[in-house]
Order: sequence, then structure tokens, then C-alpha cells
Amino acid sequence: MTLPNNLIDRGKVGNTPALLSRADETYADFMRDTRNLLLHEPFRQISALAEGELKKNGVELALDHGVIDKVREVSRNVPEMATFLRVKRSAQEIYKQRIIESYNTQKDDFIRKIEAAEKRGPGTLTYDPDFIYPAYATVEIHIQPDGYTGHPLAGLYYDYGTSVFFGDGGKDDVLHKQLAAKCATPKDGKVTRILDVATSIGQLACELKKRFPDAEVHGIDISSAMLRYAHWRALEQNTEIHLSQMASEDMEFENGSFDLITSHLLFHEIPVPVIKKTLSEIRRLLRPGGTYVMFDFPTATPQSPGYGGFAGLMDAADNGEPYAYGFVKCGIEELLEEAGLKLRSHDKAEIAKTGRVCDAV
Ligand SMILES: C[S@@+](CC[C@H](N)C(=O)[O-])C[C@H]1O[C@@H](n2cnc3c(N)ncnc32)[C@H](O)[C@@H]1O
Repeated sequence: MTLPNNLIDRGKVGNTPALLSRADETYADFMRDTRNLLLHEPFRQISALAEGELKKNGVELALDHGVIDKVREVSRNVPEMATFLRVKRSAQEIYKQRIIESYNTQKDDFIRKIEAAEKRGPGTLTYDPDFIYPAYATVEIHIQPDGYTGHPLAGLYYDYGTSVFFGDGGKDDVLHKQLAAKCATPKDGKVTRILDVATSIGQLACELKKRFPDAEVHGIDISSAMLRYAHWRALEQNTEIHLSQMASEDMEFENGSFDLITSHLLFHEIPVPVIKKTLSEIRRLLRPGGTYVMFDFPTATPQSPGYGGFAGLMDAADNGEPYAYGFVKCGIEELLEEAGLKLRSHDKAEIAKTGRVCDAV
């Protein structure tokens, strides 16, 4: 491959292409660490402080522009809150921008590689170039310019970005290896067909294929950009997964055709009406006794508001997470059961370890 001037092909870190120069990489590492240090460590203290300040000022949290404006008003007089929000937003913008600038120095090469992989196996890729995205799926989630759906290299940018969100789990797909290893299975042990819903860049689908090499593993996602990159990424690992562009609320598979269905971090990124339709689709696709495992944010309760408190509300407002706040407050456990997906455990600590494990009833 021919590279401009001082650039060399720096290979991959695990399954993720390295940034295009050492300077880009150290800069991105610095921004990641800064972000983690400033945001993750003091997260609890700032949230507790903010909850108290908001209460004092009579602000009741809700996903509503009037409330968000009131939170900003209160924040202006509490330097810790104002600084937290500013640093979070700026660190995210700078980090994303540098990653994108770095990869874009070889944009055409990346696009060529992804295109060249399309018709090669193992595995298959199906997408519709004229797919019309519903408006909710086109937001610039996590402030990624053009979001998941609007740029041909969205998958590549997302891949590197997960090293911030997943911490050490973002390196070499460590988190997805752990999820696949602990993923519950149907009680009768039969796992011949698996579906990973909103598979994104295919990390969990690939790791499930490695755990269940005899199973047929499918992954769907609404974004063709994510799937095209996912297919190239799976090929690089010589792993056979079948990827199709579909919306989770309308999946074109036969009733009862899967033993095991998974999703990781889908539900906090879709609006509540789409959550409900997706759950009923998942139930439809599971065979009797089949199992669904939802890996996602914990549910907010008054005792433990977590993402349902100040930090979540402002993440929704400032970090392109418009649906996460609604998810943690929507009563997902009840919605699962209403859809005919029976939870094996309602215990919060257990769910934190295993995900929300459900059997088709
Ligand atoms: C945070 S990523 C998922 C991460 C991935 N599952 C993993 O294991 O790390 C969210 C994904 O959901 C996809 N998505 C959003 N709405 C969707 C929908 N209605 N149906 C299918 N995919 C959807 C996005 O395109 C994106 O790839």
C-alpha cells in the first residue's frame, strides 16, 4: 500500500486498525486517559453533589428541554458541575476529531479494503444501498459526526472509539470475549442458531462463533456502514458470521428460528416504542425454550439513580445519547416479561454479572 510521506501502515492493535501515526496514537491515548481521569473517577461524587444541588433548587429530573435548561442554570453557579459538563463534551469532541483525522489520511484505502471484502467469505454480507433510515437512527450518537449511519467509515471510527467506552475491555475485543464466555444458553443446552441483534462491528457475533463453532451465527444491524466494516473485520479473523441489514423492530427471519439471541448496548440507544417492538420481534424469533440475553445499562431506581440521575440526563443532552435516559427509566424488566421473555433472575447484582437472561415462554 502506498502511504503519504511520513505515514506507515502501523498494522492493528488486536482486531482494530492502529491510528496512522505514533503522534495520533499518543494524543488519542492522552485524551482517553484525561477523559477517564476527569470523568469516570469523580463521576459518583459529582453526581451526588449535583443531585443535592438540583433538589435544593427544586429541579425534578426528566427528559424535557425545560428541565435540561434548569439543570444548566443551576450548573452555572456550581463550578464542579459546570466544569464536569464542559470537560466531558470537549474531551469527547477532541478525541473523536483526532481519530477521524488520523484514519482519514488513508480514507480511500480503507474504503477500498472494505469494498473488496464484500463478496468474499467466510460468512456473508447483505445490505440495501437504498435503505431508508428512520429518523431516530440518524442522530450523531456519542457526537460521532454523521452517527452510525451517515459515513462509510462509521464502523472504523466507532471501533477505535470503543477503547474509551469499554476501557481496557476495548483492547483486543476483551469485553466481547468475556460476554461470549459468560453468555447464558437455553436450559436444554441446544445452540445451533444464534442471532446478535445490533451487532454493530460484529465483535460479539465473532466471539460467539468462536465459542460455538458448530452453530450458525447471524448478526443484524440497521447501519450498512457498520455491517460492511464488520464483515471485513470478521474476515480478517477468518470467522464465519452472517451479517444482514435489518431494523431490530422488523427482522426478516422465520418464527422460532433461533436458539439463542443476544444484544449488547442496543436498547439504551433506541426510543421506547422501538424497544417494545424489538422485544416482541425477539420473542417471535426464539424457539420454545430459547434464550435471550440483554447486555445493557442497569435500570435506574430512586435508591440508585445512576444513569437515570444528573449524569445520564446531561449525557443524553450533551453526548448524543437521546434515548438512554428513557431506557433506564422505562421499566425494562416488566417490558421483557410482557413480551413473553421470562427473566431467570430479578436480582440487580445477578443481572449486573450475567446480563438480563430470559427464556421464551
Ligand atoms: C452501541 S452499538 C452496539 C454495540 C455492539 N452490539 C457491541 O457488541 O459492542 C449500537 C448499534 O445499534 C445499531 N442500531 C440502532 N438502532 C437499531 C435498530 N433499530 N435495529 C438494529 N440496529 C440498530 C446501531 O447502528 C449501532 O451499530
